[in-house]
Amino acid sequence: MIGSANGRRIGITGLGTHVPERVYTNADLEEFVDTTDEWIVERTGIHERRFAEQHEALTDIAFPAAVQALEAAAADPASIDLIIVATVTPDMMFPTSSAILADRLGMPDAAAYDLLAGCTGFMYGIAQAYAMLSSGLSRRALVVGGDVLSKILDWHDRSTLVLFGDGAGAVVLEAVADGGFLGFELGADGAGGENLWLPGSGSRHFEDADRLVKMNGREVFKFATRVMVSSAEKILQECGRTVDEVDVYVPHQANKRIIDHAAGKLGIPEEKIVVNVDRYGNTSSGSIPLALADARADGRLRPGELVLMTGMGAGLTWGSALIEWTEGKAA
Ligand code: ACO
Repeated sequence: MIGSANGRRIGITGLGTHVPERVYTNADLEEFVDTTDEWIVERTGIHERRFAEQHEALTDIAFPAAVQALEAAAADPASIDLIIVATVTPDMMFPTSSAILADRLGMPDAAAYDLLAGCTGFMYGIAQAYAMLSSGLSRRALVVGGDVLSKILDWHDRSTLVLFGDGAGAVVLEAVADGGFLGFELGADGAGGENLWLPGSGSRHFEDADRLVKMNGREVFKFATRVMVSSAEKILQECGRTVDEVDVYVPHQANKRIIDHAAGKLGIPEEKIVVNVDRYGNTSSGSIPLALADARADGRLRPGELVLMTGMGAGLTWGSALIEWTEGKAA
């Protein structure tokens, strides 16, 4: 699916993020699996990640991110009429995490649903919210991307444990006077889905006690390096923009090698790339909003700047968006 904006300007007017307190360094993980700091840093670029406490679920880490986003947008929670939570680790299948959050945040009039698109969830979520807003069905939306993958990781599997972390981000989307989203490109390859799966998580193997992530890392790596490039190229072409016009590149933070490969193929110089996988690992749906917040914190994300975001993940799925940054500038 690909398309450019339909004329109505919809942008991000507020952004918030949250990660659990507890830091696990690579050395800490040596306690659980046969690995080394050297291996993890060389193969992934990850130095540390945050893992939630046993009592913490998704909505506990998403709530502070949502509050921050609403404050940044100066938006009354009651004015939100749509909340989408993109996650593969909801508190439970139902009630949905979006409904739980809507209640906790004070959004009595919001339509609320969860969205499952692996690490690409945030990209799918903002595309859906954009469509709802630009059609006039919604006036102000909150999109949350977040995961607590530590809850579904096999703490004895070195090939997955070292890659992931927990975290969440939230954005408010609404009409803006200038800038905003220019277009989206989203896709999925179900045939590759078996390379990243959670076998005991649904009706196919409901009786299966195995509710832990399985991954064929090499195959996901090949998929990632391909779609991170092709999706970005397609959206730039669709929107009539060139890669040189991109001011800030926000790729999904799965692995520094994947990011370097994509940026190299696309021809994006290092100073335009946002990288925080070293500090957070792969936080799945939280990854892109966490990276946006880092770019904003270091002064790289200013109003009017052209931002290219590309995610990829379980499904297998991918998704890109182009936006002229607008935070704090509702119409
Ligand atoms: N520590 C030490 N050794 C390890 C570890 C570890 N943590 N993990 C694997 N190894 C070993 C393997 O067993 C293998 O040993 P062998 O040669 O004796 O069999 C060796 O290291 C090499 O393994 P490879 O899998 O070939 O290593 P590779 O260079 O491909 O790196 C990695 C592995 C980091 C997983 C890489 O393939 C990757 O990043 N893939 C993409 C994963 C990804 O992005 N997943 C998330 C998708 S997003 C989502 O929706 C969740």
